[in-house]
Amino acid sequence: MAKHDGQIARQRMPPGVWDTDFASVARDCAIAAIQRRSTNRLGDTHFIKRLRYRDRSFYLKVRHIFASSDPNIALDPTRLHFEYRILECVNAVEKSLVPSVHGFIHHPAAIVLEDLEDAGFQPILQHEDVLSNDQVNGLGYGIASLHTALNKSSANQLFDNPSRNTTPKPGTHIIHGDLNTKNILLSKNDVRFLDFENCRIGYREHDIGWCLGHILIIDNDLTRCRERVNALMSGYKGAFAHLDKSRILDTINSAIRYRMTAPPGSPFFSTVNLDPSDTLAEVSRALAN
Ligand SMILES: Nc1ncnc2c1ncn2[C@@H]1O[C@H](COP(=O)(O)OP(=O)(O)O)[C@@H](O)[C@H]1O
Ligand SMILES: [Mg+2]
Repeated sequence: MAKHDGQIARQRMPPGVWDTDFASVARDCAIAAIQRRSTNRLGDTHFIKRLRYRDRSFYLKVRHIFASSDPNIALDPTRLHFEYRILECVNAVEKSLVPSVHGFIHHPAAIVLEDLEDAGFQPILQHEDVLSNDQVNGLGYGIASLHTALNKSSANQLFDNPSRNTTPKPGTHIIHGDLNTKNILLSKNDVRFLDFENCRIGYREHDIGWCLGHILIIDNDLTRCRERVNALMSGYKGAFAHLDKSRILDTINSAIRYRMTAPPGSPFFSTVNLDPSDTLAEVSRALAN
């Protein structure tokens, strides 16, 4: 049996689960995922591996070393560790927004997460039915709660490194940075956010617009645009009056174009027939109300 090699940074497992044996099992599972290049879920840039241990199940997010030929994707382990720390910060102030984090393995770099699939959550992209307006409304509320939690937490201390975007411009906050429909999981009544690799100081409008753009593409229905925008907006509540609507519109535009140009084989490939200009005109009218 593999031995515990002392590489585990944290040991915050539920009592009776995290021990040196579990540490070894998790590490072996991470190594096997890399060697076999295997995933349970398609990660954009990581191996995502489901792990069962003593009747419990966990998710391992393992650094995908083979993807590092893409210079735009900084796949250094510190990035994964940054994500781990952000998740810890959010969990410290709000337990029901992100998966619990159980630990971090350094070699190979991997985060051990709560298995949200086991808890009944699925990525929006895999929901077979079109989302209801109530779900979109709940999602708006969830994004608002996430923004509050991120900014209330000690996550701002993680941005002190000058190599990150550290000169906050007016109107900027800590944001998720990539609220696409694979990074948002829904259950019947609840929402969870994943994948904080792109968490940064930026505009809240980016998170809202990026998420809305992806939802409009999934709907692929011009007649629903307004109700979707209204549902998300009223869910986000609080600060909408202070948001820059043109910034939301610009981001929706980028999201729609990104989705419409995704190549076959990409998880974001879609065969939509929405006209981007008509869609944006509809969204613009909804935002003006
Ligand atoms: N804790 C988790 N519980 C359930 N599913 C998860 C969990 N973590 C990741 N996933 C699944 O794996 C996919 C990719 O995870 P993500 O963290 O977004 O990796 P990447 O950075 O490679 O995109 C998600 O879309 C989701 O389907
Ligand atoms: Mg992702």
